[in-house]
Amino acid sequence: MALIPANIVDEILQTARIEEVIGDFVVLKRAGSNLKGLSPFTDERTPSFVVSPGKQIFKCFSTSKGGNVASFLMEKEHFSYPEALKWLANRYNIEIPEEKPLTADELAQITERDSLFIINEFAKDFFVENMHDSDEGKAIGLSYFEERGFTKETIKKFSLGYSIDKSDSFTKRAIERGFKLEYLEKVGLVKSKDDRQFDFFRGRVMFPIQSVTGRVLGFGGRTLSSDKKIAKYFNSPESIIYNKSEILYGLFYAKGDIVKYDNCFLCEGYTDVISMHQAGIQNAVSSSGTSLTKGQIKLISRYTNNITILYDGDAAGIKASFRGIDLILEEGLNVKVVLFPDGDDPDSYSKKVSFTELESYIKDHTQDFISFKSSVLLADANNDPLKKAELIKEITHSVGLIPNEITRVIYTKQVAQIFEIDEAIVQNELLRIRKVSLSKQFQEPEIKELPIYIPSSEPSEVFIDTTSKITESVERELIRMMVIYGDYELIVKNEENELNELSTSVVERICDELKVDGLHFSNPQFANLHQFLQDGIDNQTIYKMSSLTNHHDQEIVKLVSELISDDIDLSPNWAAKHKIVIKHEKDDLDETITHVLNRFKIVKIESIIATIKGKMKDPSTSYEDQLILISEQMGYDRTRAEIAAQLGNVIIK
Ligand code: CTP
Ligand code: MN
Repeated sequence: MALIPANIVDEILQTARIEEVIGDFVVLKRAGSNLKGLSPFTDERTPSFVVSPGKQIFKCFSTSKGGNVASFLMEKEHFSYPEALKWLANRYNIEIPEEKPLTADELAQITERDSLFIINEFAKDFFVENMHDSDEGKAIGLSYFEERGFTKETIKKFSLGYSIDKSDSFTKRAIERGFKLEYLEKVGLVKSKDDRQFDFFRGRVMFPIQSVTGRVLGFGGRTLSSDKKIAKYFNSPESIIYNKSEILYGLFYAKGDIVKYDNCFLCEGYTDVISMHQAGIQNAVSSSGTSLTKGQIKLISRYTNNITILYDGDAAGIKASFRGIDLILEEGLNVKVVLFPDGDDPDSYSKKVSFTELESYIKDHTQDFISFKSSVLLADANNDPLKKAELIKEITHSVGLIPNEITRVIYTKQVAQIFEIDEAIVQNELLRIRKVSLSKQFQEPEIKELPIYIPSSEPSEVFIDTTSKITESVERELIRMMVIYGDYELIVKNEENELNELSTSVVERICDELKVDGLHFSNPQFANLHQFLQDGIDNQTIYKMSSLTNHHDQEIVKLVSELISDDIDLSPNWAAKHKIVIKHEKDDLDETITHVLNRFKIVKIESIIATIKGKMKDPSTSYEDQLILISEQMGYDRTRAEIAAQLGNVIIK
C-alpha cells in the first residue's frame, strides 16, 4: 500500500470528527460534554461506550478499548492503519495524491500479487457493470437475483455481477486495458487453448470472494442453466492470492458482528451467507468452493471461540455437519448446530419468515453437538442395542478430539447422562480412543512438568511484585499529568525578585525536573511517550494533546486515550445532583504536580536503595565496596527523608 504523505495524514485526522464517524456505527446520545451509546464491540444493554468530541477520543468501558477515530475503525472494521486513513479520506472527500505515473522500472517492480489484485478488482467492476448496464446482464443476471429476493442494497453490498455469455468479452477488455495475459491466466479469469483465449466465466452470475480486508481474491460463478451436466458453480482456481482453505466467504462483512455477538454462524454456501446478512443476521460466513477446513476454523478463532453450524436438514447437510463438528472440536472451539427443516437451507428459510421468526427459530433449534449428534443417531438406531453402542462410541470419539481436558470431562458427564450409562464406561472408551489416536500420531503422551515451588527464606522477594505495581501506578500518574495538563501554565515564583514571576508549562516543568535528576520511566510505553514529549520541548513546539491522540504510533494513541479517559465519568451529573463539592486535582495544579513528582522521586529512590542493598548482600562485593555502598545508601536515605517530609509524611504503600 502506498504511503500517505504526512501532511495528508494530519489533514485527515484533523478533519475527521470522531462523533460523526462513530455515529455511522453507533447510536450516540448526549451525556454532559460527552456522547454515550451501546458498545459496538460487545452485546450490552447499559451504555458504557463514551465518545468525547472535545478530545476526539472514544472509550469503551466494557471492553476497555479506546483511542482516536483511526483506532476505532481499526477495532471495528479490523482495518490496518493506512486502510483506516483511506476510509476517512474517502468519508471526508480528502484527496490522497496519486503517485506520479510509474516508470517502466517501477512498473516491473509491482509485485505479481498486486497485479492479481488489480485484475480481480477490474473484473469485479466489469461483472457488476455487465449486470446493470447490458441488456443481457439485466435480463438474465439481475432478474435472476431479483427473483431470488435479493434487494438492490444486497446486490450492491456483495458486488454481485454477471459474466456475459460470449467466449471472450472479458478477455478482450482486459487485454485492451493492458493486463498481462500471464497474470490473467494465473488468476483464473482467462483460459488459453491452442493460442486462443477464452473467458473462464461465461453466462454466470458472479460472487466476488473477498479477503478479511475486502480485497477480491477470486470468484464463484453460478450457472443459470438447470442442465445437470453443467457444474452449478465454477470457482476461481487457487493462486498466490487465493488460498481456498484459508478464506471464508462473507467474513469481511461479518467479522464485526462475530466479535460483537461472540459467535459465528457457519453456512454452506454463498447464497446462504447473503440471505442471512440481508435478513439482519450479519455474523454469518461460509467456506467457498471447499468443504470446511482447519485453516478456516483458525481464521474464525481470531474473532470468536464459538461456532454455530447452520446446515440443511437433508442427509448431505447432516453428514457435512458431523465432519464440521469434529474439525471444530479438534481446533478447541465450541460448536453448536442448527438444522433447518428438511429441504430448507438458511437461504430459503430466511426468505420464508420474518426476522423475528428466523431469530427465534435459530434460538429454539440451537443444539450442542452432543444432543445434536445423539438425536440424529438415536433416530437411526431404532433401539437396536448394538447400534446404540456404536453410537456411544461415535459420540465419544468426538469428545475425544477436544484438546482441553476440563471441557472433555464436562462432555463425558453429559454423554453418560444422555445414554444413562456409567460415566466410567465413557471414560474408558475415551481413554481407548485417545490412546489409539495418540499412537497413530507416533506421539508420546505429553507429561507436563509442574512448576516446583520452593519457599524462600528471603521475605523481600515477596514484595517485588507489589513494589513494581506501585512504581507502575506512580509512573502512570505522572505521565497522565503531562498528557492532560501538558499545556497548562504554572507560575513559578522567582525567589530573588518577587515581581519577576516565571511561567512554564506543566510538560516543561515535569520534563525539566526529570532531566535535572536524571530520572526515567521504567515502563517502556511511558518512556516512549516521555521521549516524544521531551523531543517536543527540545524542538520548541508547544504541547498539544492532539499531537498525541493523532500520533502515527497507535501504541501512543491507545495509551493516551486510556489516560485521558481515566477522567471520563460515566455519570457526569452525579456530583452536581448530590451537591457534592469535590476538590479537583486541577484546582491547585502546582501543588498536585509537586506532589506527584515527589511520589515519583521517592519510588525511584527506593528502587535505587533496593539495588544497593542487593549489591551489599552479594558475597562477591569486597569490604571496601561495601563501605562505599553504605555511604551511598545513607545519601539516598537522606534525600528520601527530605522528600517524604515535603510530602507530609505520606507513606507510599
Ligand atoms: N459449491 C461449489 N461447486 C458446486 C456446488 C457447490 O463450489 N458444484 C459450493 C458453493 O460455494 C456453494 C456451496 O458449495 O455456495 C453450497 O452449495 P449449494 O447449496 O448447492 O449452493 P447454493 O449456494 O445454496 O446455491 P443455490 O441456492 O443457488 O442453489
Ligand atoms: Mn441454496
